[in-house]
Amino acid sequence: MSVSDVRMVEDAHLAKFYAKKQLTIVRGKGALVFDAEGKEYVDCMGSYGTCIVGHAHPKVAEAIADQARKLIACHGSTYNDARARFVSKLLTITPRGMNRFFLSNSGAESVECAIKLARKSTGRRKIVAIKGGFHGKTYGALSATWDSKYRKSFEPLVPDFTHIPFNGEELAKDNISQETAAVLVEPIQGEGGVRVATAPWLSLLRDLAQDAGALLVADEIQSGFGRTGRMFACDHYGITPDVLCLGKGIASGLPLAVTVANDEIMGSLAVGEHTSTFGGNPIVCAAAEATIRVLLEEHLVENSAKVGEYFRERLVEMQEQLRIVREVRGMGLMLGVELRFDVHSILQSALQQGVILLDAGRNVVRFLPPLSIQKNHVDLVLSCLRKILAEEELAKLPS
Ligand SMILES: Cc1ncc(COP(=O)(O)O)c(C=O)c1O
Repeated sequence: MSVSDVRMVEDAHLAKFYAKKQLTIVRGKGALVFDAEGKEYVDCMGSYGTCIVGHAHPKVAEAIADQARKLIACHGSTYNDARARFVSKLLTITPRGMNRFFLSNSGAESVECAIKLARKSTGRRKIVAIKGGFHGKTYGALSATWDSKYRKSFEPLVPDFTHIPFNGEELAKDNISQETAAVLVEPIQGEGGVRVATAPWLSLLRDLAQDAGALLVADEIQSGFGRTGRMFACDHYGITPDVLCLGKGIASGLPLAVTVANDEIMGSLAVGEHTSTFGGNPIVCAAAEATIRVLLEEHLVENSAKVGEYFRERLVEMQEQLRIVREVRGMGLMLGVELRFDVHSILQSALQQGVILLDAGRNVVRFLPPLSIQKNHVDLVLSCLRKILAEEELAKLPS
């Protein structure tokens, strides 16, 4: 199929729910993707942070192909070896004591399960979420998501959700009470602009939830699996949540999400109260087991910390040199650069020059590259960005 045929078919028949980039990707390798004409791009979008071990990793591809030849479909109501292997692997990296998993297909579903666990296990209804937070677009998850552009056309949403300020201590104290079922927080807000929680605030949420008998739910769908330079962002803070929501990179881009809790909390839902036809599918589980294996064998969490720090330092230098850059934020390979202007045209220029960037709100450029990215590719991204920002600064901020 030619590029124009691909675009014609998608434009004619797919729901127009995505803001499409003028990019048709047909192949990927490591931190690079290629279009149909063979043009190469450094991928700092990583399919929205799902491509953690690099595109088309041979060990993940092999695991998927092997499993596809053996068994593709296997409902959760029967046992399966690929699923059990993945679960055993996941247990080696999840926080101690959090040894029960619900397997689903998307981040939003992982959050839906967390909300149900909170309500059922506490017998309470109120969910405290955070301003600027993003948890998905299904009704429960959307009720926790902050941005009104996602919410306003679909109200009324699920009742009893309130939003408190990110990093705001006073309103946390005022709003977390004996009526709270859960406090739902991203340790680093992704869609909300790559905003990093302060250690005192996250500790306060942990303590307030504990004292009130509420659950602390950490949404690490974007920040988990080494993205921030530790296995989970909570590890930077020394905090263990009661429920952990995982998704995105866990199966290298295949649809898998996991809600993680202890026996008691997970045991609060009865058989049949929460299931999913595709959840824990053998191919997806085989991909996830291979993904965790590669993550550990190739020391990609360490690479995320090391290359992420290099990336961040260079961005800070750029901030010192260019007035257009307002702030550099993030950890590991979850980085954001806040500009003084809308980033849309900057993303387009970068794409033309072979670099795929992501936004996070109107004026933040976000970087979620594969955790295997090396310095040479980061340097390419930086020199492209520096050139574009310098031109933009000249045009928009004349001295
Ligand atoms: C922190 C967070 N939670 C939940 C979601 C929703 O995940 P999904 O799009 O897989 O439903 C996302 C997606 O970007 C996310 O970043």
